[in-house]
This record gives sequence, C-alpha cells and structure tokens, in this order.
Amino acid sequence: MDYQWYPGHMTKAKRMMQEDMKLVDLVIELTDARAPLSGRNPDIDELGRNKSRVILLNKADMADETLNRCWEDYFQRMGLHAAAVNSRTGAGMKRIQAVIQDACREKVERDRKRGIQNRPVRAMVAGIPNVGKSTFINSFAGKACTKTGNKPGVTRGKQWIRLNKSVELLDTPGILWPKIEDAQVGFRLAALGSIRDEVLQPEELSLRVLGFMKENYSELLGARYQIDTAQEEAMLLGDIARVRGCLKKGGEPDYEKAALLFLDDFRSGRIGRMTLEQPPAV
Ligand code: G4P
Repeated sequence: MDYQWYPGHMTKAKRMMQEDMKLVDLVIELTDARAPLSGRNPDIDELGRNKSRVILLNKADMADETLNRCWEDYFQRMGLHAAAVNSRTGAGMKRIQAVIQDACREKVERDRKRGIQNRPVRAMVAGIPNVGKSTFINSFAGKACTKTGNKPGVTRGKQWIRLNKSVELLDTPGILWPKIEDAQVGFRLAALGSIRDEVLQPEELSLRVLGFMKENYSELLGARYQIDTAQEEAMLLGDIARVRGCLKKGGEPDYEKAALLFLDDFRSGRIGRMTLEQPPAV
C-alpha cells in the first residue's frame, strides 16, 4: 500500500477517527504481532478513552509463537483485552468473538440496568496502514454478515456490518500513523515494510536485520540460506548473494539485489517466525 507522509493526511485521518469514535462503544485496535509496541500510535489511548478496548496482535502467523503469548499477557496486564490473530486465514476469530464479548460486558450490563436489552455493541477497527485492517474486517465479518445503511436511495451515512445479533462493525477502519519516537522503532517498522524503504536504504536495513537475526534467530537464518551465521553482517549478505545467484557481471556479489531479496524473504515470513521486540518488564 502506498501511503504518504503528509501531515495533512494524518490530521484528516485523526479527525475522521475522532468523529467515528463518537459512534462506537468498542475499539478493536490492530497491531503487528512482530513489533506490537512500535506498530501502534499511543494517541489511541486518548482517542479511545472511555471506550471498551481490544488489541489484536495481527499477522501472528509470522511472529514468534512464544512471544505472541508474552505480548498477550503484557497487554492484558496493561488492562486491554488482547488476542493473537491471523486475519489472512481467519485463525483465532472464534476466540476474538469471546474476547469482544468480554470487553463489552460492562456496557451490556450498564444497558441492562437501564432497561435496554439486546442493543448491539458498535465497534470500529483501527491501526496503522498495512497492519491488516481490511483483511481483518473481511475475515471477521465473513460472508454471513449483512450490511446496513448506505443503500441506494437511502441517506448516505456510515455503513455498519452486522456481525451477529450482538455486534455491529463500522466498515471503514480508522487509520493511525506510526509514531517514530526513536531509531529502534524506525528500524522495526522499516524492517517490516510498514514505512517506506527510503527511510533506510535496503542494504543498510538488511545488514541491521541480519545483525538482529544473528543475535536472535541464527538457526532460521542458517537453515534458510545454508550459510555460516557466525560472520560479520556484510559477509552474510555476500553469502546470501552467492547462494541466491545475485551476482554482478564479473561474478562479484550484487549486494543491493541480495538485500532486496533478503528483505522480501524476511517480510513475507519465508525465513521463519520472528518477533522484533520483547514486551517491556512491568
Ligand atoms: P490495511 O487495511 O491495514 O492497510 O492492511 P491490509 O488488510 O490491506 O493488509 C496488508 C497486507 O497484510 C496484505 O498483504 C494482507 O494480506 C496482509 N495480512 C493481513 N493480515 C495478515 C495476517 O494475519 N497474516 C499474514 N501473513 N498476512 C496478513 P499484501 O501482500 O499487501 O496483499 P495480498 O498478498 O494479500 O494480496
């Protein structure tokens, strides 16, 4: 997805989120399971004040399974309802229904006390570009849903997807921008391809990702390319170039080509399941 770094776009997106936020009881925030804190914008805490909140660790299929559980625990300790999910296949969706019901229990109870029964919980999805918001909505809503509102001839308004008798979902997700407060956050987002490649040159970026893998996932690296992982990052990239036939005319390694190939392997999860950050101690 191509997105632009114009403050104007961000301001507009934030304003739209604020408007949509008024219509919902529940915010389903998506973040990337491979970098759960780096991939979120803390503004959501302010925007979603007084709302029920769920945080989903999306693309969990590409993240380290052990760390998925640590991150779920971390967010739960932070007072959010959290669950790992794979929106592409829909794995984990049943559990999400339960998590959502859990998150909304307070509101349902409040309604019941005021004599309101069976009013559906209204929810919206939010997250940074490319985190999987549309994929999640399609997968979560599935085929069984019915769209309401915005029918031809009917007043233009928000479209709600009726998921079941207790939950309605706004069909347009809220877009948040990542907040790059330090170089580590920038590195993680660049590594995942969540921000444009211009932020870090592919070669430099791939060397840093190789450094990270050498430290944390050297077995996966060795297994994927059949290379000796106990070398300097630049040597590793050279070996990847040779193994993968990324060579210049004279037979020299083409580092740039190898860097792009490696980053593509990394981002698509072909090297294996990895998570770039660990939950802070709480
Ligand atoms: P957005 O609305 O938040 O901008 O994100 P979108 O749904 O467009 O998803 C961005 C990319 O992430 C898509 O891949 C999508 O398939 C992929 N994706 C979303 N959720 C998951 C998940 O849980 N696991 C994995 N492995 N991938 C996920 P794409 O390459 O841009 O498109 P395509 O290959 O699906 O056509």
